[in-house]
Amino acid sequence: MIPKRILGNSGLEVSALGLGCMGLSFGYGPAANKHEAIALIRTAFDAGVTFFDTAECYGPFTNEELLGEALAPFREQVVIATKFGFQDGDSKKGLDSSPSRMRAVAEASMKRLKTDYIDLFYQHRVDPNIPIEEVAGTIQDLIKEGKVKHWGLSEAGVETIRKAHTVQPVAALQSEYSLFFRETEKEIIPTLEELGIGFVPFSPLGKGFLTGAIDETTKFDTTDFRNIVPRFSEENRKANQALVDLLRSIAIDKDATPAQIALAWLLAQKPWIVPIPGTTKLHRLHENIGTATISLSAGDVQQIDTAASKISIQGARYPEALQNRVGK
Ligand SMILES: NC(=O)c1ccc[n+]([C@@H]2O[C@H](COP(=O)([O-])OP(=O)(O)OC[C@H]3O[C@@H](n4cnc5c(N)ncnc54)[C@H](OP(=O)(O)O)[C@@H]3O)[C@@H](O)[C@H]2O)c1
Repeated sequence: MIPKRILGNSGLEVSALGLGCMGLSFGYGPAANKHEAIALIRTAFDAGVTFFDTAECYGPFTNEELLGEALAPFREQVVIATKFGFQDGDSKKGLDSSPSRMRAVAEASMKRLKTDYIDLFYQHRVDPNIPIEEVAGTIQDLIKEGKVKHWGLSEAGVETIRKAHTVQPVAALQSEYSLFFRETEKEIIPTLEELGIGFVPFSPLGKGFLTGAIDETTKFDTTDFRNIVPRFSEENRKANQALVDLLRSIAIDKDATPAQIALAWLLAQKPWIVPIPGTTKLHRLHENIGTATISLSAGDVQQIDTAASKISIQGARYPEALQNRVGK
């Protein structure tokens, strides 16, 4: 079974590895077959995963519906995290964290998720038009009404995190973090530690790159988001293989896989970090969950960090238009 972790000072207890459900409906090519996706989510629960991540905009809407159906038999035993923050729930449109929109999303998400409460409600991106204090105030009302248990931010900057936390304690920040993207270590992680906020790294496998399953010959589906990510250009995939080679060499020593080392490295950073790897494949789900049996010593982490510091990752993690939405 997977050990449990608590997200910062919130008291919210979750399995040390969650399941990122986005890719089952959205982002990385066509949606998975519904019956297979439901089976995968239920297999994760049977194996000890109690933390499931979705968002209004994944689909849009279909990913929440999928989770609602898959998790209904054991709803009370799991923590469901979902997100608001885009106009009409469409991540291609602008941001909208107005109080009326937040309330409408909470109601609609609960319906799709077949539940009368949301365990963790994240603002997907900071909305420059709505003061974060107002967002926190709306969340506070939703908490008082029993519709939301905890709240979080995603890709927010430290000033926003501090302001938000003053109005209504933030349980978790969900932002990108892995050996493929470590900017978060500079200011964000120390701030979370100081404030007692949990951290949920998204894309903990570097959108699949750290697993070794992707190289410069990989062809993505035409609808796959990675086609427009500079870091995933053919040239950059080739240059960035050095990081996969490093993970492979550590994995051989540990009788593990590169994906497991990438996840174990994250778990070794802080006891309040909970990665949410995503997969559409059962064998990979088992592989990722298997990380729970691997532990890296401080010496192992040091060895990885020293070797990784000599590798310079090529290419931006987002195209420019999306980069403008993070770190606010
Ligand atoms: N807050 C945000 O803005 C934000 C942004 C992005 C993601 N997220 C959340 O974070 C979750 C995880 O992030 P992510 O899906 O972007 O990236 P990820 O978990 O780093 O990687 C997912 C990709 O890796 C592949 N993969 C997974 N396990 C593998 C393994 N053991 N071996 C080989 N390939 C493997 C998957 O392909 P297969 O399906 O083919 O296995 C998929 O393409 C999402 O599901 C979503 O819930 C949040």
